[in-house]
Amino acid sequence: MNRSAARIAMLLGGFVALLGAVYVLTGKGRVAASPTETSDSAQGAGHHAPSGMRGSNLYQYAAPPEGRMTEGAMHPPEAPLPTLAPNGVREYTLVVEEDVPHEVAPGVTIPAWTFNRTVPAPVLRATEGDRVRITLVNKGKLPHTIHFHGVHPADMDGVFELVPPGQSYTYDFIVRPFGVFPYHCHSNPSSQHILNGLYGMFIVDPKTPRAPAKELAMVMSAFDLDRDGEADFYAWNGRAFQYADHPVELKLGEPVRMYVLNMFEEPMAPHIHANMFGLIRSGTKLRPDEITDVLSLAIAERAILEFQYDYPGTYMFQCHFSEHMEQGLMGWFNVVDPKSTTVQAGPPKGHGHHGGGR
Ligand code: CU
Ligand code: CU
Repeated sequence: MNRSAARIAMLLGGFVALLGAVYVLTGKGRVAASPTETSDSAQGAGHHAPSGMRGSNLYQYAAPPEGRMTEGAMHPPEAPLPTLAPNGVREYTLVVEEDVPHEVAPGVTIPAWTFNRTVPAPVLRATEGDRVRITLVNKGKLPHTIHFHGVHPADMDGVFELVPPGQSYTYDFIVRPFGVFPYHCHSNPSSQHILNGLYGMFIVDPKTPRAPAKELAMVMSAFDLDRDGEADFYAWNGRAFQYADHPVELKLGEPVRMYVLNMFEEPMAPHIHANMFGLIRSGTKLRPDEITDVLSLAIAERAILEFQYDYPGTYMFQCHFSEHMEQGLMGWFNVVDPKSTTVQAGPPKGHGHHGGGR
């Protein structure tokens, strides 16, 4: 192996050792690996039913009693608002850092590789036809890139132009088509760079804006802490169970648009409860052409889900693969009636059925 390969191998070795140390420190050699282990640790902190709900010990992990996720650690579920680009040019700066402490589950911190210190990376947003200038600043010890999905020239594709440590590179292109896209590092080994956290969502709005809605941006991914090929935590937006601890509040009857992306090397099956959604695969159409309540997303596949809740109450949104759900890929929508002072349970009067997705 040449010198730089040796250096990379050494760094990777150091990274694995650091992971091991984190593992030992947090006492998390294995995570809810068996039902027995799960129920043994069922006191308090690991319980993920929303307050006021009881009867389920399923949504938990083997966490220390104080291991509840800190409020400030939550990744916001809302998509950034669409804004006008000044003179049609939209600029972003993404700074890569390695070994940034990232709380992947309450009480469990990993050394993540990050764009702008978050996993997933910040949601980028532009309108079809905008010129984007996205500058990658590499503050890490390894070469990194940004690979965008969508249509653009070869030298904007982030495969050949590896950005060395301490340097930067500006991707400059016209965004098209509209839709929802992944972006991620494409440095080798790609699996390492992606699995360590260098991925995010890019929303490209159509020139004719979509109807107003409460918009959520939800990246599905997983974390294999000990690199045994089996993920230990699955998560919406980078932290297992965060929207169980902090339910996403929706208003009764309010149109919701949920952008969903799978960035893990297993299929995912996003599912919302007690409802149907209008499905726009890849986000590349203006209107849904399918009504369903679950879909399959292989790695890098994404979709827009449009729905509204006709009944107040608490509803699960999850990955339908049980293992993924039980290891963190679930959360709650708290649907509140703005006209009521308390969260109601049961069907309100005067609401008929609907198929969602309008
Ligand atoms: Cu990278
Ligand atoms: Cu899944």
